[in-house]
Amino acid sequence: TALRFDILTIFPEFFSSVLCYGVVARALQTGIATVHTTDLRDFTTDRHRTVDDRPFGGGEGMVLKPEPIFAAADALGITPKPNRDTKRETVIMLTPQGRPFTQAVARTLALTERVVLLCGRYEGVDQRVIDHLCDRQLSIGDYVLSGGELAAAAVVDATVRLLPGVLGNADSSHYESFGLSADGAAADADTPLAVSPAAGLLDYPHYTRPAEFRGWAIPDVLAGGNHTEIRRWRRERALETTLQNRPDLLREEDLTREDRKILGK
Ligand code: ADE
Repeated sequence: TALRFDILTIFPEFFSSVLCYGVVARALQTGIATVHTTDLRDFTTDRHRTVDDRPFGGGEGMVLKPEPIFAAADALGITPKPNRDTKRETVIMLTPQGRPFTQAVARTLALTERVVLLCGRYEGVDQRVIDHLCDRQLSIGDYVLSGGELAAAAVVDATVRLLPGVLGNADSSHYESFGLSADGAAADADTPLAVSPAAGLLDYPHYTRPAEFRGWAIPDVLAGGNHTEIRRWRRERALETTLQNRPDLLREEDLTREDRKILGK
């Protein structure tokens, strides 16, 4: 059955112009996943449709009120926290205070039936929403966006593209085969040394035709047809890029003797 996303936001229109491209759009069109947006202002009770208020204790900025958020959650039939089976249904707040959103988190969400994404705004959200409605908080990176909407779209995109039946994934709802196909690069038996962020290394460089463009030739090895050499070259470049840009991803225990030689360790 389809993975359902519920997005709670004060800017529902944002999501009608994002998630409309490529494999994600295709997955939503074919019903592999569904995205429902809920306007928090529809769950206010005052004339001005107020969703925020001043912080207790003083200070800068405004805080999202708890009432519209809990009212929306109730209306959507979101299971109250003590009874919620978070393997099936999970409520996530997008905030720079959250734990890092990673490929591993996306793989977990892809196994869920319903993912509720709460988009924070202003200077914060009433803590009782975090404590009594949310299962976890996620951040998409160490920078501050003006709201959680862009982060929610990133979570939907990264998760949907892993679902069985989405272009490039095995069309299977079986967990084992899905677990493998969800990480295509690592699971593909024909490319044992292929790398991707999911495999722990950054990607290697890619080239397509023409073989020479404005005097810039592709690396000879890629046109040579020696697949052992090509794999080795790609592994070298992946290790090199990872060492340069993300040394934090290089785990000693994942390196082969060959890798250590390449890195000069
Ligand atoms: N809201 C604002 N900044 C964010 C971030 N970096 N990740 C998730 N939600 C956010």
